[in-house]
Amino acid sequence: MTQFDRNDESIRMEGKKPLGGRIQIQGSKNAALPILAACMLIPGKCVLRGCPNITDIDCMCSLLESTGAGVDTEALVTDNRIVVDTRNVRERRLPEKYVSAMRSSVVMMGAMLGRLGEVCVNYPGGCVIGERPINLHLYGLEKLGAQIWTEGNHIHAYADELKGAVIEFPFSSVGATQNVILAAVTAQGTTVIKNAAREPEVIELCKFLNLAGANIDYAGTFFKSGRIEIRGVELSRLHGVDYTVISDRIVAGTYLFAALAAGGKITLENIPIGQLGSVCDMITEMGANLELDAAQSKITVNACDRDRIKNLPYIETAVYPAFPTDLQSPLLAAACMAKGRLKVRERIFSSRFRIVEELKRMGADITIEGDTAIVTGGRELEGRTVISRELRGGAALVIAGLGASGITTVIDSGYIRRGYQDIVSDLASLGARIRYVD
Ligand code: EPU
Repeated sequence: MTQFDRNDESIRMEGKKPLGGRIQIQGSKNAALPILAACMLIPGKCVLRGCPNITDIDCMCSLLESTGAGVDTEALVTDNRIVVDTRNVRERRLPEKYVSAMRSSVVMMGAMLGRLGEVCVNYPGGCVIGERPINLHLYGLEKLGAQIWTEGNHIHAYADELKGAVIEFPFSSVGATQNVILAAVTAQGTTVIKNAAREPEVIELCKFLNLAGANIDYAGTFFKSGRIEIRGVELSRLHGVDYTVISDRIVAGTYLFAALAAGGKITLENIPIGQLGSVCDMITEMGANLELDAAQSKITVNACDRDRIKNLPYIETAVYPAFPTDLQSPLLAAACMAKGRLKVRERIFSSRFRIVEELKRMGADITIEGDTAIVTGGRELEGRTVISRELRGGAALVIAGLGASGITTVIDSGYIRRGYQDIVSDLASLGARIRYVD
């Protein structure tokens, strides 16, 4: 049975069993997806290592294949390796089935404009976590000279020739920054992006493209000012590369919160420690003991004394390097059981409190006031059957189940599989009593 055959299965666990042991953290979904799209730009063969075996990666590979690219995923299951050969791409229309399934399909626009000068897509889909417009993506591509028009649900973009421009985003967007970078790599002249997103996944894309022959300057004042400069190169200068995707800071953070909820002591290996500053600070302030080993890229979290785990009064999500929106739901789940009261303000996405109703059914005390959730912790959660409705919320329900008494069943593990290679086997390796059920 493959990972994807399990999409309709539920996840069942018996809570209140402290975790122990060590696991390796998978490669980063949000780094791998735009890098796969970037392969579209490169008329050659790219080998990507460390790709997580998750459904969103599967979907991006299908998008690439639909353009005529050769995508070899045979070693994805065994070795997390994908080989992409885009020498023969020609199709400019992306199939709705895959575009609608995943938000990050939108970054194929920049890559296809750069490679083929044309693309037709429908509006992208993805997890329902609030309004997710693409106006900044389209604004940036238009500034580079693309003509963009819509017909029904379809967006067409066309450019005889893309030209470098100064693009200032009114606020930071990870995807829009990546889309513009992809289109600007082969544009004539120089592009400057102001107020670019500073997330590590943007840097990863720049590193990959530079290795493949692009000329992107993201050093200098980038971290302070959010300025990225891309000097356009001829398409023929780009060449295939062998690249290893960085590990997933959000998956690592999820398991740190799992340890707070369940108690115990675990070691996470292959961790991007430098990217987890705000999360590690928070976990320590919440009363757990953290040992960071930067040389070995590993973190040990000790939350054996669950009585010491307490809530901080106030947390808000914000762009990197602040606390990430993708860990807001895992934090919320752990906070239900920690002592004291926590206010969490969600500043990135408008509907990221969809799990609150499910947590309340397990006995959590949470109220929502606009963009803020107020959790009164120290509650004993009780196992229930709950429903996962989006990726990070689903993982958070698993965390809640690990800390709850009795049996919890999280229905529809398909959402979780969009981003977690195998949350069940990871947590089982850490001693959790957890399994898939039909
Ligand atoms: N926004 C606009 N217009 C745009 C683009 C974005 O208004 O054209 C708004 C969004 O609605 C949101 C904010 O800007 O309120 C930031 O969105 P951003 O574009 O930065 O997010 P994204 O690129 O769509 C990526 C990750 C998300 C992660 C966010 C924030 C990928 C594939 N997705 O999304 O990851 O939450 O950045 O860090 O990289 C996840 O992995 O579960 C996930 C949702």
